[in-house]
Formats: sequence, C-alpha cells, structure tokens
Amino acid sequence: MKHPDDNLAEVPGQVFSPGQVSSSPSVGGFGASTGSVSAIMGIERHAPVSQAASSEPEKAPVAPVSTPKAAASASAYDDSTPLAREIAEMTRRRRILAGEDLPLPSAPRVFTVANQKGGVGKTTTTVNLAAALARSGARVLVIDLDPQGNASTALGVEHRSDTVSVYDVIINDEPMADVIQKSPEFEALYCLPATIHLAGAEIELVSLVAREQRLRTALDKFLDESPEPFHYVIIDCPPSLGLLTINAFVAAREVLIPIQCEYYALEGLSQLLNNIKLIERHLNPALTVSTILLTMYDSRTNLANQVAAEVREHFPKEVLDTLIPRSVRISEAPSYGQSVISYDPSSPGSLSYLEAAAEIARRGAPA
Ligand SMILES: Nc1ncnc2c1ncn2[C@@H]1O[C@H](COP(=O)(O)OP(=O)(O)O)[C@@H](O)[C@H]1O
Ligand SMILES: [Mg+2]
Repeated sequence: MKHPDDNLAEVPGQVFSPGQVSSSPSVGGFGASTGSVSAIMGIERHAPVSQAASSEPEKAPVAPVSTPKAAASASAYDDSTPLAREIAEMTRRRRILAGEDLPLPSAPRVFTVANQKGGVGKTTTTVNLAAALARSGARVLVIDLDPQGNASTALGVEHRSDTVSVYDVIINDEPMADVIQKSPEFEALYCLPATIHLAGAEIELVSLVAREQRLRTALDKFLDESPEPFHYVIIDCPPSLGLLTINAFVAAREVLIPIQCEYYALEGLSQLLNNIKLIERHLNPALTVSTILLTMYDSRTNLANQVAAEVREHFPKEVLDTLIPRSVRISEAPSYGQSVISYDPSSPGSLSYLEAAAEIARRGAPA
C-alpha cells in the first residue's frame, strides 16, 4: 500500500535541500543526573566529547555512504563529491522504501512511547512514526497522554482548554470514539488530544476505582467497537513515571523507548526497565519492551557512535537498525502543525522515520 502522493523514487534533485544545517551537538550539556545505569549494566561512562561542526549539511546516517559504483547506478550525478554520494545514497534508500508494501498487523499493535527523561524525542517519535505508518496505509491512532499536548499540536488537532480530550476519557468515562479527531496530516491518522486539564489527572486518578486500568478499559472498548479496524495505537507519555504513564503501560502491549545518542542517555534507563518489570508482574503480563530507537544521532560525534554501540550491545534484539538523525527539519515540523513526513518528505529525518516504521512493520508484533 503506497500513499497516492508517493513519488519517492523520483528525481535525485528533490532529495536534498542544501539549506539544511545540523545544529551543533550539545554533548555534555545535560544537568547532573544520579543513579548510574552504567554501573548496574556494566556500561562505562564516557567523558563528554566536544566536537561540533555546525555548517555541514544534514547527514543521512543509516547506511554507510555507498561505493562510487553503487552511487553511480542510483543517480546520474557525478559521484566524486560527498554531497553527490549522499544524494545517491538517499535516492537508493527512497527507492527501497517506495518499492515495498508493508505488512499490516492482523490485530492492533498498541505501543507506549516511554522514557521518564524529558526531551529525548518521545513526542517526535510518536508523531513521526504514526505519520509514517499512516502513510504506508495503516490506520493509526495517537493517544496524547502528556498534559503539554505537544503530540496534538504536531498532528494539527484542536486541543484548547475547552476541547473534549483524553482527560474526559480517563476521568469522566467519555467514550473514546466521541473524542478522537482526525489529523489533517493523513487520511487514516487519528489523535486523542490532550489539554492542560490532564495535568490534574495524576491527582484525580488516585481516588478513582481501577485507577491504573482506566485508559486500557476505554481503549479496548474503542478498538472492539470501531467499525474499521485500527492497526497501530501509539501512546505518547509524559516525562514521569506517574499514574498517567502507568495507565499507558497497562493499555499497551509493546513499549518503545527512544534513546538520545548523547551523554547521560542511559541514566535512568534501569529505573525505567525496573518499573516496566513491576507493571508486567502486577498489572500487565503481556507488556514487552519490543523496540528501542536511537534518536538525535549525529554521526560526526564520537559520543553518538559510542552511545549507539553500547545500546546495541545491551539490547541487540530491541534496537532498530535505523537511527534518527539530529535534524533541523524534524524540530521545525511541529511549529507548522505537521509531522516531518509531510512537512519535508524528502529530508533525511523523514526518510529515517519512514525506515523505522518499515522495520517495525516488518518485525511484526512480539510473539
Ligand atoms: N531527531 C531530532 N533532531 C532534532 N531535534 C529533535 C529531534 N528529535 C526531537 N527533537 C527536538 O528535541 C526536543 C525534544 O523532543 P520531544 O520529542 O519533545 O521530546 P520528549 O517528548 O521526550 O520530551 C523538541 O524540541 C524536538 O523538536
Ligand atoms: Mg513529549
């Protein structure tokens, strides 16, 4: 199933915008953090590497730059420069994506995108994976469970303070079907928006019956009754391990953890994994960390390469081959109420999220 606008295999000239500039990597710039997962998992910590080159064009990081021969076959361009080789490589990746029909799951796959650290790319990953899957023909629902409502903004759905929202579903038993909105992004992309009211829900949930199960009950009912089946549900979590996140873990079958390829990336990961184990033991035996996605990768820094290698070493099955590059286009897209998939379909960031979505679809649901 390809999107009608799909012309990914087209002209190499469209595939690279020379105006794209990577932001400087801010390695070592995070606040002090305690409780080292490195110690627990036997991972060595690295001194921050200061290395920056702010004016190079954005890199597409996944596959190595192709050999001159391969590049020549992908493009009519002179492949003697790094830029031309990169264009050829992106064209090759685009052709592979354009030529593939992604399998659709037979039952809805429900993902929680979780990491209690803020700013690691949870919302960005939720929105862009959802858009990429919808573009490939899947019906996708995004549940925005962060009171900041960033996923709702990025998907272009209304979430003013008087909008009926996920808060009403969880606290007031409002049927989900009456609350979800269609995203203008893609035909089969829907969003259950969050408003600022959700900020109070953590406290209000405490006194409610079955407080950990409320999202699951509402979602199961919605999926059962939906006249057209949904293929993917992706829940964007707030940066905490409170009752909202617990509701997301109970509603989901799969956990997707985005990990930023920077210093301190692994701090707090053991706490997250422990919490997931507790949920699995007491509330949701089916819960599995199925997917880890490396985000904000900058191939020019040694640190990003070291973090990526360490995460792969510890989670060889879970980590996707695809890396999401640090990309200005990815960070710009939400201010236009868009995913990067529609904001700049030919950018390296868009291509990477499409490839990540393809990997997730190909791998299928965990056994
Ligand atoms: N691959 C990327 N390249 C550049 N900026 C990114 C990328 N992924 C996320 N960002 C930016 O980083 C910030 C934090 O991302 P976000 O997805 O909101 O994280 P979280 O939801 O985990 O708090 C946002 O400003 C976002 O635009
Ligand atoms: Mg977020």
